[in-house]
Amino acid sequence: MQVAIDGPASAGKSTVAKIIANKLSFVYIDTGAMYRACTVIARNHGLDYGDESGILKAIDEDGIELKSENGEQKVYSDGKDISLEIRTPDISANVSQVSALAGVREKMVDLQRKMAGQTNVIMDGRDIGTTVLPNAEVKIFLVASAKSRAERRLLDFKERGIQTDQTVEEIEKDIAARDYKDSHRKISPLKKADDAIEIDTTSMTIDQVVDEILNKIKK
Ligand code: DC
Repeated sequence: MQVAIDGPASAGKSTVAKIIANKLSFVYIDTGAMYRACTVIARNHGLDYGDESGILKAIDEDGIELKSENGEQKVYSDGKDISLEIRTPDISANVSQVSALAGVREKMVDLQRKMAGQTNVIMDGRDIGTTVLPNAEVKIFLVASAKSRAERRLLDFKERGIQTDQTVEEIEKDIAARDYKDSHRKISPLKKADDAIEIDTTSMTIDQVVDEILNKIKK
């Protein structure tokens, strides 16, 4: 079975997807982490974030691996754990540019489809319902107000131990800028699939969102 969860930055996709994956023993695949890993690789190689052929070569050299360790998803590249590095503001600010590159998307979508073909999956991202898994049995589009998403991101930073000097207002601006870029890129932009169910999580608890999605899956 395939479950697709799409939506803008910090709408709660990964939080609920992880819980549902645990409850149903599905494999959770965080596709945003893969594009973030591509961005870390580009930076480590000193490449311009628009240098498509250079970035593709560097990804081939270093590789990207998603591993589950003690119930947590970890991201490895070139033998190193880059799970914290992929969440830093510098990477967040540049991931939209890297993820808009046609070759990078083609490579990641190929990988994502391979992973999804082997097992029951719940996959979160921007184009899962529209492009990566168009035949997913359940498609969810999560939205929330920009302010509440900024507050959640700040909380998420604290929980992950990531230091930041950014205020909620600055984070809200960054999130809005990233959403704009992700929604307006040429290839598979952030968009609700026609057959996706939209859930506004602004005033919902995590448990409420999880229950609503579990009900759809059970149906
Ligand atoms: O979900 P996230 O915020 O970690 O995703 C980081 C970026 O990766 C997001 O701003 C756009 C890109 N992305 C994408 O283009 N397609 C996906 N399926 C997932 C993420």
